[in-house]
Amino acid sequence: MGQKIQAVKGMNDLLPVAQKDFALTAGLWQAFEESIARWTRRYGYQPIRTPIVEQTGLFVRSIGEETDVVGKEMYTFSDSNDALSLTLRPEGTASCLRAVVEHNLLYNGPLRLWYMGPMFRRERPQKGRYRQFHQVGVEALGFEGPDIDAEIIAMCADLWRELGILPHLTLELNSLGNRQERAAHRNALVAYLMQHEDSLDEDSRRRLHTNPLRVLDTKNPALQSICDAAPCLSDYLGEESLAHYNGLKALLDGLGIAYVENPRLVRGLDYYNLTVFEWTTDKLGAQATVCGGGRYNGLMEELGGKPAPGIGFGMGMERLLLLVREFGTLAYQDAPDIYVMQQGEGTLPAAMQYAMQLRAAGWQVLQHAGSQSLKAQMKKADASGARFALIVGESELAEGRVTLKDMQGVRGQHTVAAVDMMNTLDEWKQ
Ligand code: HAM
Repeated sequence: MGQKIQAVKGMNDLLPVAQKDFALTAGLWQAFEESIARWTRRYGYQPIRTPIVEQTGLFVRSIGEETDVVGKEMYTFSDSNDALSLTLRPEGTASCLRAVVEHNLLYNGPLRLWYMGPMFRRERPQKGRYRQFHQVGVEALGFEGPDIDAEIIAMCADLWRELGILPHLTLELNSLGNRQERAAHRNALVAYLMQHEDSLDEDSRRRLHTNPLRVLDTKNPALQSICDAAPCLSDYLGEESLAHYNGLKALLDGLGIAYVENPRLVRGLDYYNLTVFEWTTDKLGAQATVCGGGRYNGLMEELGGKPAPGIGFGMGMERLLLLVREFGTLAYQDAPDIYVMQQGEGTLPAAMQYAMQLRAAGWQVLQHAGSQSLKAQMKKADASGARFALIVGESELAEGRVTLKDMQGVRGQHTVAAVDMMNTLDEWKQ
């Protein structure tokens, strides 16, 4: 026997049943995908699907060379035919905008798009953090806001409410201003941090010159007081940026959506300006952010398109579903409605035909496969969790009848004319 081969670390199988170290099932996953499709339709967002592999340059240019994602987490390889460098997508915004630019999709005006699928980052795996993880992303392109900013945030709140997890999530909000405002703040911040350079740790000293805003993200308690007293970006916002931010807050207030302003919220990707937000929870340990997003007004141009504003968010499906599984509600039915069994000469074709008729009428039907005693079949029916059983026996078949059994016992077991099968089940279902 050959040695067993295991899945790659940080990449999960989604099975029909929960695993010891990964509680999500494919059934829950699929139910979530279905509610996402309904939810995006409710808000007029159109689906888009892009390849999982893109040219590496796309991510370097959009996400930014100095970010952790591009600097150390991408799965990059060269195509064997030529020297082209390719990367498994670490996120969806860059691919989405690449496709919009490539196919000139903004030609007819603004667009509301959504996508769902696997993303890849070589992070240290732990609960809620994986190397292949999945995002649902929404991108609204060509809208200046702040109305659309409020719409996509309200859209999130609506989904959390539907999933029963709104009470466990906090909306954190900030404005990053425009490029000039950020540059002015960055200069002030670098000057300030340089005054404290001797007290910084190695990571922060390196970031001071590459990505000073990220210094403020440090988890090092020794640096908190330095960070707390650092120049704050909100003090550098100009009139227009403030008007945008205040406009968004007023709309959120009007919609009754609570938020916490977090002036330290900078996000881990470089393309953001103005509005940024994250939905966080204290229920998932260190992996607190289930959804993050913001505005990226310069990104279309950066990727070779005509300038157009944009805003969006990405939610981590694993993190969200871990939360839903424990605290929320997402109803889905794994078990069949009806388990069909048969026994005796000539009963199999009839049983299969009944099963097909029932499926055509919308029932979820599991047909017993293989030849076993009726007792063994009934055991399987029980284990399947089916609500009803349909039994086709030799004598019933000869009389044009079938036996129906309510597996929960309420309606008992009855033999009815085959033509009445459907009506009886409809009645029993009530
Ligand atoms: P992000 O904050 O990098 O943003 O990722 C969005 C969400 O994906 C996170 O909040 C988290 O829930 C989930 N996530 C990220 N990394 C992992 C991981 N290793 N394991 C599990 N879940 C993870 C973006 O990707 C942007 N494209 C969002 C966006 C769209 N901004 C504008 N439009």
